[in-house]
Amino acid sequence: MTIEKLIINKIINKGSIDVGEFIQLCQFENDGYYLNNNPIGRKNDFITSPEISQMFGEVFAIFLINYWEKKIKTNFNLVELGPGTGALLNDLLRISSNNQKFLNAINLTLIEKNKYLMQLQKSNVNFENTNWSEEFNLQNNNIPSIIYSNEFFDCFPVRQFYKKGKWCEKIIKYNNSEKNFTFSSKKVEDNKILKNLEKFDHVKVAEISESRTKYFNLICKFIKKNKGVFVTIDYGYKNLPNHLSLQSVYNHKKTHIFENIGNQDITAHVNFDELIDLANAHNLQIDLFCTQKDFLITCGIKERKNNLQKNKNEETIKKLNLDYKRLVNKSQMGEIFKVLVVSCF
Ligand SMILES: C[S@@+](CC[C@H](N)C(=O)[O-])C[C@H]1O[C@@H](n2cnc3c(N)ncnc32)[C@H](O)[C@@H]1O
Repeated sequence: MTIEKLIINKIINKGSIDVGEFIQLCQFENDGYYLNNNPIGRKNDFITSPEISQMFGEVFAIFLINYWEKKIKTNFNLVELGPGTGALLNDLLRISSNNQKFLNAINLTLIEKNKYLMQLQKSNVNFENTNWSEEFNLQNNNIPSIIYSNEFFDCFPVRQFYKKGKWCEKIIKYNNSEKNFTFSSKKVEDNKILKNLEKFDHVKVAEISESRTKYFNLICKFIKKNKGVFVTIDYGYKNLPNHLSLQSVYNHKKTHIFENIGNQDITAHVNFDELIDLANAHNLQIDLFCTQKDFLITCGIKERKNNLQKNKNEETIKKLNLDYKRLVNKSQMGEIFKVLVVSCF
């Protein structure tokens, strides 16, 4: 059964579904978008920072190696959540070859739900004894962990709410005679959700992801218990925006979420304020929260670019300048992407 048919059947059965359920079905059910395709790359639907340029992964690697030198220095679990094509990991491993102690201390696990990407990682990543898992179910092996992700938490389904006098939830119905999906709304009655929505009262819109909260909590608990650090980079905000952020992309162009069902990327910006609150609730330390621009510049991306440009032809120099701007400029990825580092040692 196609995903579209599956969703239509669900709606016919229940009368409507919420936006979160719609996204969950499109992305993670049966043949869902995030289970069997490669969405990443210039020829596919979107491109991520590590795919834009090696500079991103290289300075990220320097940050992680320095962190390990300062706080760990022993064997550790290196865990990437949603490694995509493996580009970021390959940059990290290449830079690590300059620090054999770090490289030899790695116990590598990749968490990936997408079977196609998992196969791609198996052929792209050349590291002995790599473990793969679809879920974050790491066993405690009495060593600390460095866990990291880039553009991972924006993939989690969100439910959408808005306030017009009372809080309402956006829901999705199916018009059988016109054969199309439509948005509708229903008043929020659930007291737990209403309580959760109080902090959004002043902006009057909210996107809430229960599965993202659950996943982040799992990582916080793991780090609290077994020691380590979690570095996450994603589209997102700290001050609540007064607009909804859900977007869909197909072949590098913005679309409507009702188009290309099960065949396009659907993402929502990450609420970093919530992630920081959760980390605080687990008594983790917030080591860093900043924009991607500040992170990359502090880690030396400009110096790396200048180095890579030495003795290169005009075309390569121009490309490095363009990639650098894309990663760092405020109007491109520099400001909308944030970096959060939480730890327990
Ligand atoms: C937007 S891509 C980013 C890929 C890579 N990190 C990069 O920056 O190029 C999201 C990645 O997370 C994976 N993913 C999404 N949701 C997941 C989940 N709940 N569990 C495991 N992997 C997931 C996707 O299959 C993909 O590898």
